Amino acid sequence: MKRTVVAVGALLLGIGAVMAQQDLVKHDQDTMKANAKNLGGVLIAMVKGEKPYDQTAVSAALAQLDETAKKLPTMFPDSVKGAKFDGDYSPSPKLWEDKAGFQARIDSFAKIVAEAKAKVKDLDSLKAIAPAIGKECGNCHETFRVKHG
Ligand code: HEC
Repeated sequence: MKRTVVAVGALLLGIGAVMAQQDLVKHDQDTMKANAKNLGGVLIAMVKGEKPYDQTAVSAALAQLDETAKKLPTMFPDSVKGAKFDGDYSPSPKLWEDKAGFQARIDSFAKIVAEAKAKVKDLDSLKAIAPAIGKECGNCHETFRVKHG
């Protein structure tokens, strides 16, 4: 009985190693998709007047972006190098070639999100900072995201 448990455990660990890369890839993509949903679907939609200003939704969106900023330094470990995203493209090799540059982009993204968390309390303050958040997404993507599709 005990031996069976150990064997099953070892098997699961083996599967775990194979799964890990795909899980990480999926996690990276889900995180980025949540960013897009919160920036475009919540913050920018309010700036454009497509949605009414809602402080609870704004705070929730900014909290997710803040969480992303904290996760980004560990989102692209060596095990993700060369992995296939959606089966058709790999993350940019620059993520590993220029770690310091990537960290610098994370830092400036984190800074603007923290600033937004502190400052945004109405539509005007949101309008003032939302474009700067979008610019930070773009600044990082320009160098570190492979253009595809
Ligand atoms: C510090 C770097 C960095 C920042 C900041 C950043 N991203 Fe990304 N993003 C990446 C990288 C690297 C990829 C490519 C890997 C991937 O697809 O997940 C990516 C991919 C994406 C994708 C494609 C996801 C997919 O389906 O593959 C979307 C959408 C996205 N980012 C949205 C955003 C938005 C919106 C923001 C800002 C609120 C943002 N990102 C901020 C680095 C960043």
